[in-house]
Formats: sequence, structure tokens, C-alpha cells
Amino acid sequence: MISLILTLDHRRLEGLVEDFLANPSLSLYTMMWKAYTNHIYWEEEILFKKITDTSFLAIIRSLEIEHGSMWILLKQTEELLKSNEIEGAKDKIREFMRVLLEHDGAEEGSVYQFLESLSDEEQAKLVLEDIELAEPPSDWKCHAIT
Ligand SMILES: [Fe+2]
Ligand SMILES: [Fe+2]
Repeated sequence: MISLILTLDHRRLEGLVEDFLANPSLSLYTMMWKAYTNHIYWEEEILFKKITDTSFLAIIRSLEIEHGSMWILLKQTEELLKSNEIEGAKDKIREFMRVLLEHDGAEEGSVYQFLESLSDEEQAKLVLEDIELAEPPSDWKCHAIT
């Protein structure tokens, strides 16, 4: 179950990247940044820590290094967007997408399979931890107020 949720979250971010390339904007950038940071925070602080099989240590280290490279690419994209260098920002995001697709495939074929071997209850608790992390949009108000 958890592997499917994570995999669909990969497709969600990849979809946002495609939307951004079709129509680059600071608001789409912010959506990508939130989707990306929420996902990798969940992985690094919660999910990877559940992986007790030491044969995964090397791959986890390389996945975390890739997280860092992608983080830098997104930050560089933000700078380019803010200085209105749209073509440069798109090139940066294409570079980000190349790393992301490889990275997502690697996770789906390795660490996510380990997480899938946990009990249903353990997997559900890990999903709940991600729900606890989620933030509503900064301008969102509950229905009774708007
Ligand atoms: Fe990752
Ligand atoms: Fe991931």
C-alpha cells in the first residue's frame, strides 16, 4: 500500500514539473517546491529511518545526495524566475526532471519495496505521520469562514 502512495506522489510531482515546463510561473514553482520538500522530508526523516536492513545503507546515502542535488537545482530555478530568466529556469527544471526520473525509478525498485514489506498497521502509521506534516495553503480558510 505505502509503495503505491509514494509512487503516486512521484507521478504528482512529475506532473507539476510538466505543467511548469508548459507554463512557467512562480506559483507553479512554489507548488513543485512544496511537493518536493514535503516528499523528501517524509523520506529522510521518517521512512528511510524505518529501513533496518543494512544492505540499503549505500542506496539511501546516494538517494539523499540526489535529494541535495535536486534541492540546489530548484533553488537555482527560483533565482532565475525571480530575475525573469524564464528560458534559463526551464533549462534548470529539465535538468531537475532528468535527475528526478532516475531517482524516482531507483526508489520504487528498492527502498519502497522494503517499506511495502512492513505490516499494514506500520505502513498506515507512516502515512499518518505524513498527514500530520501536511500544511494547508497559506491563504486557505475553513469553509465556515470564507
Ligand atoms: Fe527521494
Ligand atoms: Fe521519493
